[in-house]
Amino acid sequence: MIVGPEHVEQAAEVLRRGGLVAFPTETVYGLGADASNADAVKRIFAAKGRPADHPLIVHLSNASDIDRWAVDVPPAARVLAARCWPGPLTMVLGKAPWVPPITTGGLDTIGLRVPNQALALSLLRAFGGGVAAPSANRFGRVSPTRPEDVAAELDSVELILDGGPCRIGVESTILDLTVTPAQILRPGGVSADELEEILGMAVARHPTGPARAPGMLEVHYAPSARVELVDASALALRAREWREQGERVGVIVPADVEIPAGVEVLGVASSAEAYAHALYAWLRSCDARQVTVVLAVPPSEAGIGAAVRDRLRRAAAGDSPRQDRG
Ligand code: TXA
Ligand code: MG
Repeated sequence: MIVGPEHVEQAAEVLRRGGLVAFPTETVYGLGADASNADAVKRIFAAKGRPADHPLIVHLSNASDIDRWAVDVPPAARVLAARCWPGPLTMVLGKAPWVPPITTGGLDTIGLRVPNQALALSLLRAFGGGVAAPSANRFGRVSPTRPEDVAAELDSVELILDGGPCRIGVESTILDLTVTPAQILRPGGVSADELEEILGMAVARHPTGPARAPGMLEVHYAPSARVELVDASALALRAREWREQGERVGVIVPADVEIPAGVEVLGVASSAEAYAHALYAWLRSCDARQVTVVLAVPPSEAGIGAAVRDRLRRAAAGDSPRQDRG
């Protein structure tokens, strides 16, 4: 059921008794449960169809809660908490021993974030604890950025708090601070340049070594249509080739790109921010518009453009065997 802000206290009560609540953040909608209650967290994995070794992000109402959930917190994490929270930054830190292993997918690290969204913060305050919340979509699918998307994805959720469309539209930046230099595991709302500026030191811009964020290196963010990334210069040719094969082609483009004839225009982005804000809704609209192939011209890499390019690449990786998607 989709409900308004007047149901925050009721939503906190659902969390207290181990139930699930979907709630808005500034990035995407989350599917929340009491992060300290292993049975409640199990329900998240069941509702999403998510493998049990995928760690969840724990959402806090205040940076001062960091030491309850994390150990060996480095000074850099305190600087980032002071500067970026509330905001779209998830920090991976050492996990406090009392936190149930299921919350962190069995890892000895924990992802923490204070979201910058009024309704999310009032829910977190009313509840009083940490809320484990992945994006509120079924495993492998596009993250929801509107309450109706959550309802379409997950029918078992008791309550969906309606905060309207998410302001940013792509998930938080994940920064692993348990390694030196700190490493970006997923680009998002806080750019690598901003992080380096705040920290006064370099961060690793791409994960190296073994997959440090389980769930990050696979097919993700995949709509039912095939997604292909193209350069602006190749758009017209690719569109014609797909149409000649009988496909219904949709395009997503930055505003300065010319739109070829005979395609469905899914989205035109006037900036990287606008691209991020609407990307998932555009991908979702493929089904209703019977688009079978999406040609996306990515934005440039600067700022949140890196996150948009990352999600488009993952959506495109979903083209191979459909049955792998879970
Ligand atoms: O913007 C967001 O981050 C949204 C909103 C709801 O906060 N949440 C989100 O959660 O995107 P989710 O579960 O869809 O993606 C979180 C990713 C996981 O796939 C996992 O790879 C990574 O965060 N993660 C969480 N804890 C981690 C840890 N301890 N070590 C490494 N990666 C971790
Ligand atoms: Mg997700």
